[in-house]
Order: sequence, then C-alpha cells, then structure tokens
Amino acid sequence: MYYIGIDLGTSSEKLLLMDSEGKIINIVSEDYPISFPQPGWSEQKPEDWWDATKKGIKNLIKDIDGKQVAGISFGGQMHGLVVLDENDNVIRPALLWNDGRTQKETDYLNNEIGKDKLSQYCANIAFAGFTAPKILWMKNNEPELFAKIKKIMLPKDYIAYKLTGVHCTDVSDASGMLLFDVKNKKWSKEMCDICGIREDMLAQIFESYEAVGKVKGDIASELGLSDNVTVAAGAGDNAAAAVGTGCVGDGLMNISLGTSGTIFISSHDFKVDRFNAIHAFAHADGYYHLMGCMLSAASCKAWFMNDILKTDDFAGEEGKITDDMLGNNNVFFMPYLMGERSPYNNPNARAAFIGMSMDSSRTDMIQAVMEGISFGIRDSFEIARELGIDVKRTRICGGGSKGDLAKKMMADILGIEVDVPENEQGPSMGGAMLAAVACGEYKDVKEACDRIVRISKTVSPDPAIVARYEEKYKRYRQLYPLLKDWYI
Ligand code: XUL
Repeated sequence: MYYIGIDLGTSSEKLLLMDSEGKIINIVSEDYPISFPQPGWSEQKPEDWWDATKKGIKNLIKDIDGKQVAGISFGGQMHGLVVLDENDNVIRPALLWNDGRTQKETDYLNNEIGKDKLSQYCANIAFAGFTAPKILWMKNNEPELFAKIKKIMLPKDYIAYKLTGVHCTDVSDASGMLLFDVKNKKWSKEMCDICGIREDMLAQIFESYEAVGKVKGDIASELGLSDNVTVAAGAGDNAAAAVGTGCVGDGLMNISLGTSGTIFISSHDFKVDRFNAIHAFAHADGYYHLMGCMLSAASCKAWFMNDILKTDDFAGEEGKITDDMLGNNNVFFMPYLMGERSPYNNPNARAAFIGMSMDSSRTDMIQAVMEGISFGIRDSFEIARELGIDVKRTRICGGGSKGDLAKKMMADILGIEVDVPENEQGPSMGGAMLAAVACGEYKDVKEACDRIVRISKTVSPDPAIVARYEEKYKRYRQLYPLLKDWYI
C-alpha cells in the first residue's frame, strides 16, 4: 500500500508518496502565492492550498495505481487563522504564523489578562503569530467578518476538512493556538471566553496518528483514489518534521530550517519553560515537546540570494566560504525580516547587517546571513540549556539545511553533533508516517520511526571553529539589546 504525506508549507506545498516499507516513491511540489498587504502582515488563500492539494495529489500518483493509496496525512504550517462561515466558506484570507499585526492584542493578553493566567490555561503565553491574538484582532478590526465566523481552523485542518468533511485538528497544532490546554489536551473554556468565541467553533481534537475519516467519494474519484482512503489528523509541521527525522520519545532534538527555523526537543513528560520564551506543546507521538521558533531562517538566505543578489546559485556562492573563514568574519546579520518570536517575542524587530568595512565582500555578507540563521537557532538552544536540558546532538531537516556548509555551521555554532537523516523531507515524510500508523501499518509512531528513519551521516563540531564561534556568538548576543529600543 501507499501513503501520502502533505507538507502544507509557506512557500509551497510538498507532497510525498511512501510505500509500506517507508521507501519514498515520489515527491512533488506545488507553489502558491503569499501576500504581505502591509509591512509585517502575511496572508494566504486557503482555496489556493486546496487547489495545490488536488493538483499535487494527481501529479504525485500519476505513475502508480491510485487505488493502492491507503492513507493521507499532514505536516502543516502552524498557528494560521482560517475562518469559515455557516456554509463552511472561507471568510477572508488566512493570517499566517509569521504575521505580526497583533502587537496590541498580544500585549493585551500578556499584560492585562496576564502571562501567569495564560500559562495556567494553555502552558504558553501570547506570541503575535499565535491564533488567539489573531481572533482578537479580527474582533477589534473586522467586526462584521468576525460576526460571520462559525468555524475556526488551522491551515492543514482546512485541507483535512475539504477531503473528509470533518472539522478536525490534532494536539500538536492545536497547542499553538493559545486556546488549548496543552497539559490536559482539551480546549480551554477560559481562553474561548477571553477571545469571545464558543467552543463549538473549534474543531474536534485527535492525536496526530488517529484517523479522522475517509476521503469523500466525489473527491476520491476526482483524484483517482479508492473510496477507502483514511485521513489521519497529522501534525503541525515541526512535530511532523520531528516524526520524519525520528525525533520522538524523550530528550531527542531536531532542527528544522524552512521559512522558519525551529529547535524541537521531544519529552515524555509535560514541561514548561518558566519564562515561556519557548513553547510547551503536545507532540505527534502522544507525548510532549518544547520548541523555539525563529520567524525567518531559510527565508533570509532566499531573500538575500534571490531578491537582493539576484542569483539562484546557492552552492556556487556558498562554495567560496572556506573553513578558515568560519568564525573569522566581522560582518553580522540579524535575521529579523519578519520580526522575531523566540526568544524575544518582538514583531517589530527588523533585520540588520552590521560590522562591514571597505574590504567586506559579497561572500562575507552571504556568510553573515548563514551565520545569523544558526545564531538565531542558538538563541533558543540557550533557553533550553538554561532549563537544564542537556542535549549533545541534534537531527536536522528542511530546505535551509541543504548543503554541507549549513550543517557544519550549525554543528560549530551550537557545539553539538548534527545527525543527518537519509532524507531531508521532514514534515511530508512525517505526515506519510502518521498516515501509515493510522492505517495500522505500524503499531505506533515510535515503531514507525524505528523501522523507517535512518541517519546517513553525522557532522561533528570542530573544536577550533567552535571556540571562534563562541566569541562571535557573545558579540552577536549583544546586538539585539542594543537595537531593541530603536525598533518601532
Ligand atoms: C512554529 C511556527 C513555524 C510554522 C512554519 O511555531 O510558527 O515553524 O509552523 O510553517
């Protein structure tokens, strides 16, 4: 049998076809637009995601017998607000995870409701990208549209709904809404009241590996599938990526470098960072995780290479950065193109280059951008360390980890071993694995990981470069406090 994993990303949707043994049979990708209607705002049309899904599935299965597809599941961009009316039509474009328009609502939640209460209700505080502040923003700024809301959904859950007709979500993605009592895995009545919504506007909650329904007959025949395809709830993209890299159980770490950059630490027990600078969420394996999220990671590199330098030759440009240059560059880049989430929670932060001199080159600036991404990850890693989490190695995935240099920089800047899985398809692979678990192909998520995920190589930190980067990171860390009051 075959399983489809759908990674509903920010720049595109990636779809992966896996067989029962976990072998990748095909991968396709469908693009859709993103719009930035005002600085710091970020929106996409859920209808575009659905069109991409239908086109993508047809493409993905064109060389196999579609009737052999047993299950579909997801890794989805998190936190996005999808609002449906009484006929389940989309009311307005979705506000995405990296949308920073909700400063006022975020401040209201953190300062007037209070971080202690939020943490007690949901195990997390408010961050601008989370779903609850966005609901409040609609209530304050678009009251007529707000009044039409009958269902509030997350991005991948809208696709699951279109496939099955079931309004569903999973525990990992629900965790990022600030409406979910993460510890007890149920909606928070208090948070619904604070946001002015009813609990029946929210979706039914499933574990990520549970079946939510079957693909509806008309959709199945349109897509060339049988009438018996199970749809599993799936997970937020980071939890799905962690499944795809085998980061389940207790104390394993995964770094995912997509548009965002995240560190993800799996945990058997429910844990909270006492300052709530990193998130305490449920995991797709039935347990929990801690996560730090930087809002712009691979997107910084894409912005600088494609938009500014007008090149696609990432490998050629990166090839000019030799080992002796690592930790010896005097140019720094602060990666805050969309503000920053972890650890600063500041939607108004902005990116900066600093430290250039007349001899600074194009390559120095590219190096600084790549280092800025790893330093941003290190900022969240430091919080995890302060919590007493002693992680000596990490797995890595995502487009931003492509190439030897990105992995080497991560190993040297964090000072830990970086285990590279055989494939870099974190969320889509994880999605396909969750579908296989829901169909009974594997006993549980752990068994699926043990049987499918293989580490192809390990990149070890180089002590001399680690020492140089230690000094650089100390200087990097001073930059945000210096600029903090300047951002408006
Ligand atoms: C996680 C987060 C991002 C998005 C990106 O909290 O906001 O990683 O899920 O798709």
